Amino acid sequence: MTLKKLIVGMLASVTLVGGAAQAAELSIVSGDTGNGLQFLQAQLEKFTAETGHTVTVVPMPSSTTDQFGQYRLWLAAGNTDIDVYTTDVIWAPQLAEHFVDLSAAAADVIGDHFPSIIESQTVNGQLVALPAYTDAPALFYRKDLLEKYGKEVPTTWTELRETATEIMEGERAENPDMWGFVFQGNAYEGLTCDALEWVKSYGGGQIVEADGTISINNEQAVAALEEAASWIGTIAPEGVLAYGEEESRGVWQLGNAVFMRNWPYAYALGEASDSAVAGKFDVAPLPAGEGPEARSAATLGGWNYAVSKYSEDQDAAIELAMFLTSAEIQKVRAIEQTNLPTIEALYDDAEIAEAAPIIPNWKEIFQNAVPRPSAPTQADYNETSSLFWSAVHNTLSGNGSAAENLEVLEADLQDLLQ
Ligand code: GLC
Repeated sequence: MTLKKLIVGMLASVTLVGGAAQAAELSIVSGDTGNGLQFLQAQLEKFTAETGHTVTVVPMPSSTTDQFGQYRLWLAAGNTDIDVYTTDVIWAPQLAEHFVDLSAAAADVIGDHFPSIIESQTVNGQLVALPAYTDAPALFYRKDLLEKYGKEVPTTWTELRETATEIMEGERAENPDMWGFVFQGNAYEGLTCDALEWVKSYGGGQIVEADGTISINNEQAVAALEEAASWIGTIAPEGVLAYGEEESRGVWQLGNAVFMRNWPYAYALGEASDSAVAGKFDVAPLPAGEGPEARSAATLGGWNYAVSKYSEDQDAAIELAMFLTSAEIQKVRAIEQTNLPTIEALYDDAEIAEAAPIIPNWKEIFQNAVPRPSAPTQADYNETSSLFWSAVHNTLSGNGSAAENLEVLEADLQDLLQ
């Protein structure tokens, strides 16, 4: 018998003798991005050792859009097999009715998290998910190559295009697979995040504003999408139109891109010993657009744990959600996964700053990050986002101009939302 099994057995019998709850067998669903599931498994082993509850992981694909489609079906059917769901920051209003209110259970720790994140998971006064980490993207750049070509880190998209072109062309003599820029261009939620950044960085608004105004059909948004369309087949491979986070990271981590747009998780993986870019890259805020309201813009992301109303072990499931979102686990997550904590105090933690300098540096970026319009569109968010990413994907694919596609999008959003 291993030491762990022994401890688990002892803990289980202690709780039984004490007449308290029996050890539960829980299931948790989670998407797999990077080595996220491997990390989760390691944390679950700690949970089992501490509580005696065992947990089975139901693995899902990396794409948040694919996860959402499946979860919505399971929840609508009242599935009792899944106790805990790993949920994207944008889903709370759409799935709230299926989740347990965690505000009483989490009363002592709610105040430790950034209030805006707690608010994003609160629907009609109910806390429907507990935050595990927040997300705000970075421009990953090859510092060795910028140095070699005597270039600064670009602060506008125009500069990025020029620098990417020059370095890519220069490097192709040695590496024919070299590209200038990779990002998330597939037709899914990830493209909504990337394209919202382009539009906002040109001063083109947030698709649907906080007061419900549909703002997307404007000249600055057109200019932003035209700029992005000019990258396809020039600084970015045509294949980027099918890339999610992991495909872009794949190209980048092989050393085949000068720049990448991705979330902080790619930082730890890029520095790992099996990475061709370890020690050769750094991160900066995303570039700004052009025009009077140009700025750097980052889309706000993040992940949470929610307990299903249909779980037959709700108390143990709540314990699991509390455990996975605790300061202890968020700290390990920050150090090993470079995921941004939602607990404010961890941004002053010396061990995190030492092991993962991106974390304290990204506090300000995530605090200024742009939310997707999930609050003003509520139950219609997924459809809103899908109309947006389709219009953008068409534009990037040369299927209609930016101006034409945004005009159609505006009309479709009016039909949907008004
Ligand atoms: C990241 C973000 C999430 C977003 C997704 C899009 O996982 O944390 O909020 O929806 O990327 O691909």
